[in-house]
Amino acid sequence: MSPHKTTESSKDAAAEYFEKNPSPKALNSHQALAREFIQYHAETSPDRRIVLVTSGGTTVPLENQTVRFIDNFSAGTRGATSAEYFLKQGYAVIFLHRQFSLLPYSRHYSHSTNCFLDFMDEHQDDEGGVVVRKEYQEKMRRVLEEYHYAKQNRLLLLLPFVTVTDYLFELRALATLMHPIGSRAMFYLAAAVSDFFIPRERMDEHKIQSRDNGADGETGGQGSGASRQLVINLDPVPKFLNTLVQSWAPKGSMIVSFKLETNPDLLVAKAEQALERYHHDVVIGNLLTTRKWEVVFITRDGGEHWVRVPKTRRSKSFSGIEKMIGLAERKHEQHPIDLEGGTVTEGLEIESLIIPELADMHTKMVEKQT
Ligand code: PMT
Repeated sequence: MSPHKTTESSKDAAAEYFEKNPSPKALNSHQALAREFIQYHAETSPDRRIVLVTSGGTTVPLENQTVRFIDNFSAGTRGATSAEYFLKQGYAVIFLHRQFSLLPYSRHYSHSTNCFLDFMDEHQDDEGGVVVRKEYQEKMRRVLEEYHYAKQNRLLLLLPFVTVTDYLFELRALATLMHPIGSRAMFYLAAAVSDFFIPRERMDEHKIQSRDNGADGETGGQGSGASRQLVINLDPVPKFLNTLVQSWAPKGSMIVSFKLETNPDLLVAKAEQALERYHHDVVIGNLLTTRKWEVVFITRDGGEHWVRVPKTRRSKSFSGIEKMIGLAERKHEQHPIDLEGGTVTEGLEIESLIIPELADMHTKMVEKQT
């Protein structure tokens, strides 16, 4: 198929998707907030670059009045962490995130792994006061300072979504609103987006019944009693990356997508394929099991460029498998991979290496166009 035909067919598929599925209730208010945010920065600091960071998983509801849904693993660590490093680089950040996933700054003290209560103590000398424990004060002061700076300077806009359809409506709207800033816009698509969904027209209105034959939509039961199965037919979500690149995003803006794989033998080839297919700027490939310690940049200049946290700076990860580091690298001609030895000093977040590289690439792109 010619690239022109691919573009047209994905445009048609995207248009049909938006026609047939309902927009999120918050879309209008989110659009108003984003318009005001972009305008504010365009007027007060004309050189300011704005990045749209997408983050977290997308749900696929099984019922219109949703009780059950399909979800994925993403907690939004990549997105929330990256947003902080973009802010450090001077970007204003629109943070389009899955509701209740990790947020920039508060991520250091939220969810079960970093419960904020563990950082606090009851004050002994005082009546009823609480304090931050001594050993955490330095870091908390740093996080608090950065958070206050971002807030006071209106540098961070938080916009939540829940379902894959909400996400796509929001992405289209926000990309379109970025047009006035042209090449100063960046898209950093770290959300884990579902490839399958149930179209609205085939979705059950009410909770799918577990025993009787209550299903009125596409999903339905088979069999009876304990052996009854729930059979779900999912349609593919159209690949919107092509439409984002070709029509939603401003011309000259920088578009960075992520490619997630679990099989090391596929990662680089799939990331290259995505860049070839969608003609954007960077694909960052990552493996589920090593994503906190290594990623690969695939750009149009060719070659795979690996970014890795050195062994001595790798923090532990419950879901990670350290011995898989290096397995996806096709050409071992780059830096030697340090898999052994060393004592872990302070953990280094891989996003602190990724974002400055992207910001440099963006600077070069903007300079080329001015
Ligand atoms: O949140 P964490 O736990 O920190 O995990 C971070 C992460 C692994 C989720 C993140 O680093 C990452 O890889 N995000 C992208 C995951 C993903 O959707 O990969 P994919 O291979 O399924 O899709 C590749 C690209 O196609 C993505 O840029 C996606 O935006 C795009 N896509 C996906 C579905 C769809 N229908 N249309 C698309 O265009």
